[in-house]
Amino acid sequence: MGKGAPSIMEASADHKRPAFGNRFLTDEQHVFEHNAWDNVDWDADHLHRVQQQIEDNSHHKMSSERRQELEDQASRHWDQFYQIHQNRFFKDRKWLFTEFPPLAALDQAAGPALSMLEVGCGVGNTVFPVLEMVQNARFKLYCCDFSPVAIDVLKADKNFDPERCLPFVCDIGSMAAWQACPIPAQSLDVVTMIFCLSALEPEQMGVALSALYDRLKPGGCVLFRDYGQYDLAQVRFKPGKCLADNFYVRGDGTRVFFFSQDKVKAIFEQAGFVEKQNLSDKRLQVNRGKQLKMYRVWIQAQYVKPHQ
Ligand SMILES: C[S@@+](CC[C@H](N)C(=O)[O-])C[C@H]1O[C@@H](n2cnc3c(N)ncnc32)[C@H](O)[C@@H]1O
Repeated sequence: MGKGAPSIMEASADHKRPAFGNRFLTDEQHVFEHNAWDNVDWDADHLHRVQQQIEDNSHHKMSSERRQELEDQASRHWDQFYQIHQNRFFKDRKWLFTEFPPLAALDQAAGPALSMLEVGCGVGNTVFPVLEMVQNARFKLYCCDFSPVAIDVLKADKNFDPERCLPFVCDIGSMAAWQACPIPAQSLDVVTMIFCLSALEPEQMGVALSALYDRLKPGGCVLFRDYGQYDLAQVRFKPGKCLADNFYVRGDGTRVFFFSQDKVKAIFEQAGFVEKQNLSDKRLQVNRGKQLKMYRVWIQAQYVKPHQ
């Protein structure tokens, strides 16, 4: 970036504040009248119940041998996941542009070339909305995943454009893998981590964040959204699936970590980032047919690499 050119975070400062949904539940009697409610407050009883369920499902931890085995086979398990589901499992993440103003700024920013990396891109559910929205001719999108099957499915998509998008296979938790990564140091404007860091062994999260820090320009940012602690998906785990506090293995061998806001803050700040946003998005989803209430929690955050 040339001297004096604003960073993508600065260029996006005038964009609208992120718009979480805006349907609020003010009278519990109306809860089954809509499919979802935003920013739902949890009363003490509900929080206590959830904490008790998590205490029950995480009391017994799997052995360290099993934890290492799952780590050794992690990319194979994601390969098998994509062999089965191809590009049918996750939906395209069209909300990205309202939640993250720096993404919208990629399309409008004038000046030198811009580049972005989507980490843990899977089959492209973040990549394709970005390619569609950002028509800026000076924009380059890198994306990586450690599942070669996912990268092949992404490249076979009819919307894949090799002129603007460079996918590669990389285990972001491995320092050795980063050595072979095609992205020059201090070159990225934006990194997106969308439901990706939660799939890593917690001990390797710091490796991933330090490597991303090295590849971002000063002023560049990481846009993060992932599972929050106490999310329904955490509560639903049966005992025997817990690897460590807030870290579980699913039936298909893929793993998932549930973040608190404090945990996100700690790991990003430890890697040198400065916090711009760190929110807990609590949504109540409702199955009106079955009269079921599902309490979802996601953490959304933005961190910047400071100018020295
Ligand atoms: C839930 S998917 C999210 C995909 C995508 N970011 C999206 O927006 O839909 C998580 C992805 O992280 C990838 N992943 C998990 N651990 C990884 C690692 N250590 N290095 C690179 N990718 C990893 C998985 O293969 C999977 O594609």
